[in-house]
Amino acid sequence: MNFYVMTLFPDMVARGLNESIIGRATEKGLLSITAVDIRDFSEDKHKRVDDYPYGGGAGMVMAPGPVVRTCEYVKGLIPEERREKVKVIYLTPQGEVFTQKKAEEWAKEEDLIFLCGHYEGIDERALDMVVTDRVSAGDYVLTGGELPAMMMIDAVSRLVPGVLNNEVSAEFESFQDNLLEYPQYTRPEDYNGCRVPEVLLSGHHANIEKWRREQSILRTLNARPDLLEHAVLSKSEQKFLQELLQRQEEGK
Ligand code: ADE
Repeated sequence: MNFYVMTLFPDMVARGLNESIIGRATEKGLLSITAVDIRDFSEDKHKRVDDYPYGGGAGMVMAPGPVVRTCEYVKGLIPEERREKVKVIYLTPQGEVFTQKKAEEWAKEEDLIFLCGHYEGIDERALDMVVTDRVSAGDYVLTGGELPAMMMIDAVSRLVPGVLNNEVSAEFESFQDNLLEYPQYTRPEDYNGCRVPEVLLSGHHANIEKWRREQSILRTLNARPDLLEHAVLSKSEQKFLQELLQRQEEGK
């Protein structure tokens, strides 16, 4: 899978994605990450890419020319037959909030282009010309789109076959069936008097699976009850949830 990031800070993106699992997957040729400097496409003699906003107001706006030219250059790196359908994703708090579902959808693509804004944003005409999707990292404002782009590239990359060593681990994790992940433990069995839950030492796989599912339900109820509305639960798990809710009600 090929990622392209249009940014004023290409080193930040390249360095940030050069380590660990994503770095290794890039070395193996499973991923490619190309950070392209928007400033290289400025036609100003001082390489300026921003200007004052029409109508006044605080801050500067990224001018349309360098952004559109960068995008044309990046599209030129993509084989012609794939160019038409490639998504150009603009990172902005005004976009649709990124989710695991979106990561799964994007993991099916061969190429993704990210556009990172800075200052007060990018001239709307450039956005209208090049952007296909506007996506937010969450309901908070950052100084630029680089961290959200890196975060999204990470989330998508780990779904690309071969990127995780353990093929199954991307399936059995948070948000599977809309539930949060159960707690994990490793050695020692007793850490400063805190013991690993006995069921995990029992070797009884069915009991372990049941305990993990119940822990997932409990965690989701406590931390993200909004997810439970779309959770996929068996009959006995629904009963377990009802009991938890009843206990919660009684505790009030
Ligand atoms: N740029 C600044 N804040 C952002 C956010 N929350 N999501 C995506 N891009 C951003």
